[in-house]
Amino acid sequence: MSSTVPVITVDGPSGAGKGTIAHRLADHLGWHLLDSGALYRVTAQACLIEGVAWDDEPAVAAIARVLDVTFASGANGEESVKYKGQEVSAAIRTEEGGRGASTVAALPSVRTALFERQRAMRKAPGLVADGRDMGTVVFADAELKIFLTASAQERAQRRHKQLIAKGESVSLARLLQDIQERDERDANRDVSPLLPAEDAIVIDSTATPIEEVFNRVWELVQERNLI
Ligand code: C5P
Repeated sequence: MSSTVPVITVDGPSGAGKGTIAHRLADHLGWHLLDSGALYRVTAQACLIEGVAWDDEPAVAAIARVLDVTFASGANGEESVKYKGQEVSAAIRTEEGGRGASTVAALPSVRTALFERQRAMRKAPGLVADGRDMGTVVFADAELKIFLTASAQERAQRRHKQLIAKGESVSLARLLQDIQERDERDANRDVSPLLPAEDAIVIDSTATPIEEVFNRVWELVQERNLI
């Protein structure tokens, strides 16, 4: 059943600029934002905290079913993510956090456990949903579906720059390998593999500045009468 609350989905591989585009869209429209990747990241982090292995499907799903997570904007506008009241924002954004998220995200019962929680985020006046399967599975009836992509090389370079800015040193080759492995896992899993929905608009940001990508998306929002 289609709900009357409009949804815009922004899917694609990590590092393509989805987070930036989804945040800006939600800001401009005054809509809610769902960062579904953060739910998988917090699930992986919760496993580390509770001493559960990422491949122990029944135990990971049990954690996901009752995941006590809160999202808030910190004093300086930075996001704050807490698990059972404990700050995990930095921990979930590490490379290991990304690996854990994509490992637990491949488990079917973990996806089922997080499905209703994601659907429940569809609240007036609208929702921008960022992830991998927002347009294909979770909000298959979304009003506008964007699939944002970029070459693995370009995504690794962007991530490298971000890490250097944070004072972390990681080799570009290692990052590229991590990204390729994660893409491979996300694209080839049995449930909800990373794929554009048939009715998604695919945008390649490899050679396009994020500002231009946003302008293109904003045109689509206007064309679909979403404002
Ligand atoms: O988007 P982000 O990089 O935070 O996502 C982390 C991981 O969570 C992805 O690599 C993917 O495996 C998983 N994920 C998913 N489905 C989503 C969002 C994220 O499987 N809707």
